[in-house]
Amino acid sequence: MGSPASEVSGGQGRARCRPAPRRRRAGARARTIEAALREAVSSGRLPAGTRLPGTRSLADDLGIARGTVVEAYAQLVAEGWLVSATGSGTRVADTSRLPVRSARTLVRPVFDLRPGRPDLSLFPRALWAASVKRTLAAASREALDYGDPAGLKVLRDAVATYLSRARGVRAEPGAVVVTSGFTHGLALLSRALRALGVRTVATEDPGLVHHRTVIRAAGLSTVPLSVGPHGADPAGVPDGAGAVLLTPAHQHPRGVVLSPARRAAFLDWAREHHGIVIEDDYDGEFRYDEQPVGALQAAAPEHVVFAGSTSKALAPGLRIGWLVVPERLRVPVLDAVAATGTTVGTPAQLAIADLLDRGDYDRHVRRARQAYRRRRTELADRLATLTDVPLDGVPAGLHALLPLASRQEEKRVIDAGLAAGLQLQGINAAGYWQSADRPEAGLIIGYATPPQHAWRPALDALAELLRDAAIKSW
Ligand SMILES: Cc1ncc(COP(=O)(O)O)c(C=O)c1O
Repeated sequence: MGSPASEVSGGQGRARCRPAPRRRRAGARARTIEAALREAVSSGRLPAGTRLPGTRSLADDLGIARGTVVEAYAQLVAEGWLVSATGSGTRVADTSRLPVRSARTLVRPVFDLRPGRPDLSLFPRALWAASVKRTLAAASREALDYGDPAGLKVLRDAVATYLSRARGVRAEPGAVVVTSGFTHGLALLSRALRALGVRTVATEDPGLVHHRTVIRAAGLSTVPLSVGPHGADPAGVPDGAGAVLLTPAHQHPRGVVLSPARRAAFLDWAREHHGIVIEDDYDGEFRYDEQPVGALQAAAPEHVVFAGSTSKALAPGLRIGWLVVPERLRVPVLDAVAATGTTVGTPAQLAIADLLDRGDYDRHVRRARQAYRRRRTELADRLATLTDVPLDGVPAGLHALLPLASRQEEKRVIDAGLAAGLQLQGINAAGYWQSADRPEAGLIIGYATPPQHAWRPALDALAELLRDAAIKSW
């Protein structure tokens, strides 16, 4: 039996599971650690009860950020492979309660209702292939050269036009920087902010642990901004904060919209303190009850970075997104691009530009929006047969938060889900809270995640699971 650390690091050589390239995304590293530990537990090399190294010492051992290990452990706790208790660290769980195919091989849960993904079976493969073919056939030799670090002009033009049409962004092509998704954009911005003297970024609480990890990796600290029914609280921005990261159109994970008063207050803060607001518009195209809220950026383009991604509208595997950057951040952001050597491949940029220009992108978003609207309605209707407690937030996006009575209940439901072949994500289990000891608990239900054929059975399984759950508003 290997030691827990060697299972992840690959023993003396460390090579087996350690992600070698330092600049690989922290998320990819976390996935690698997760896979190594899952395999070690399911094969019996790490038996139930084995104590895992502390996150700090494992991170030091692997030479990676501690947050990456925290993220991997949190995911495995959420899936039921590990248990974590205050005071006694993280241990291997008794996996005999998980669904098994044989004594040694764990079955992957059948349905996945965790958030963060669109229905990948909706990806418009034929349109994408046609765009790639068309644009490659017409591309000049120069289009396959290194290219402009800010992104190809043809894509920056298309993005500026699309964002002003679809999201009301005040974008000129010179302000657009093409990224490999929001996470990459956030990493670039964090480096740029640090270069400009910023030391602290306020981030929504609850919010994605992964984003805090990225910000911290650039040498910045994060402070929590509490989120209520009207969105993040501008009064919570501490003295000395230089930037704020917000999801104004649809808070992740609560699903609430930043109120007009709070939008104005954040902009006042930015004007008064020369601060920067990062507007993470990750699912802004998906609103089901009314017109989407327009971008905050339009009201103060010199203080707000608008950040978009194709991860929800098309597929996260494309790794394409964009920033619309205020003048004063443009050189520092491009310096960060240069320092990290990260740009998006030009054939993919040409294809996305083509999809945007032809209106295919909009048409696909409209189709996907209809599918997700239906699912959200079906989810709300089914839950209404079980409880009077509504889903938190507005009908929008690809996920919804169902509040539960306690952290214990959250854990119980997630464990029971795994035993029933249903993967679920909890707000506590997945590390969304920054403040210690928050009592609020809940499931973040990614209703877009299952492919169409699996949606109804997944919903049935969820309803069955929640039949006797303690559902309670916060
Ligand atoms: C809050 C939030 N922001 C941004 C993203 C998109 O990140 P990326 O573009 O790096 O895939 C996601 C995806 O799950 C998200 O949940």
